Amino acid sequence: MNPHKQTSTTEPSLPQLPQTLRWDNGQFFLLDQTRLPLETFEERQDSVVQVWNSIKQLKVRGAPAIGIAGAYGLVVAMQEHQTLANADYLQELQRQADYLDSSRPTAVNLRWALQRMVGKAQSLANESAGTIHQALTEEAIAIHEEDRVLCRGIGEAGVLLISEGSGVLTHCNAGSLATSELGTATSPMYLAHAKGTRFRVYADETRPLLQGARLTSWELQQSGIDVTLICDNMAATTMAEGLIDLVIVGTDRVAANGDVANKIGTLGVAILAKHFGIPFYVACPYSTIDFDTPSGTEITIEERDANEVTNFGARPTAPDAMQVRNPAFDVTPSELVSGLITERGILRPPYTESLRKQYA
Ligand code: MRU
Repeated sequence: MNPHKQTSTTEPSLPQLPQTLRWDNGQFFLLDQTRLPLETFEERQDSVVQVWNSIKQLKVRGAPAIGIAGAYGLVVAMQEHQTLANADYLQELQRQADYLDSSRPTAVNLRWALQRMVGKAQSLANESAGTIHQALTEEAIAIHEEDRVLCRGIGEAGVLLISEGSGVLTHCNAGSLATSELGTATSPMYLAHAKGTRFRVYADETRPLLQGARLTSWELQQSGIDVTLICDNMAATTMAEGLIDLVIVGTDRVAANGDVANKIGTLGVAILAKHFGIPFYVACPYSTIDFDTPSGTEITIEERDANEVTNFGARPTAPDAMQVRNPAFDVTPSELVSGLITERGILRPPYTESLRKQYA
């Protein structure tokens, strides 16, 4: 069997989807997304430093996938510490969790998963380090498995938004590659496709790192979904031509008031959708909702290396020593969001209330 593919256990008519993360006999593997679509290469993660770098360099990316990688990364980090006294093991665990958490700041799933792992360990504080370690391994696998179920729930909640003959625009990659199976934004698409609905997806290329061109286009094309790639600056005219009926994007963090952080450019898409009267939906599992952050203004936006803007692939496309800005995410205010597609159904504004009511 091709290790890069997972067959859906839930429905035979769903396509084979790429498997971004794999835990196999105590070893952690991830599909190096920086090489896609040219090469499908799975890389074993042998140390916590390697996992930190894989997250930082976007070998693994997408909010849920980063969370799962963090959880497995913590197991990798603690493998050599199983003979410590339990209190020392717990202290080291917190240190490693803080280290992994420093790799990327915006997607709350990373912190969520790491806190869940540390909480699990603390609940077993009187056990031996070996026992705690075994429980942590099981917890990381559970986080991975749970994400599969959450994505499926999002698909079921959102599938009816996609009607026969419609055009759906998405930005960045909130697909299988960013999660454990069906993706978040793509889950309604995969389920609609499986039940025979014909529709077309328009994938924004997503400068500077081209997650839409390299990843979303690739995984949707492989699964037989009708997908058309557009440059980011073509979204407006594509909407003006009447080709888009619906926008679905993923998110890295939803604040308590429903403001949404997602890949840079999402805000522009939301403003365009508002202008053209097109519904703008955000797909999010509960692991992406952050009740500790009251609104989008408090979300830390990752600023990435200038090289990503001054180069296109390996080729320089700007003068030397150019000043650039490179925020990796932006915040879409909740008033531009038509609905949050969650595993518990579609939540509607006002989000402060609908989020609290659903998840309190
Ligand atoms: O920088 P990236 O590629 O990690 O950004 C990813 C996104 O913005 C996704 O839309 C988001 O994480 C949701 S993934 C289900």
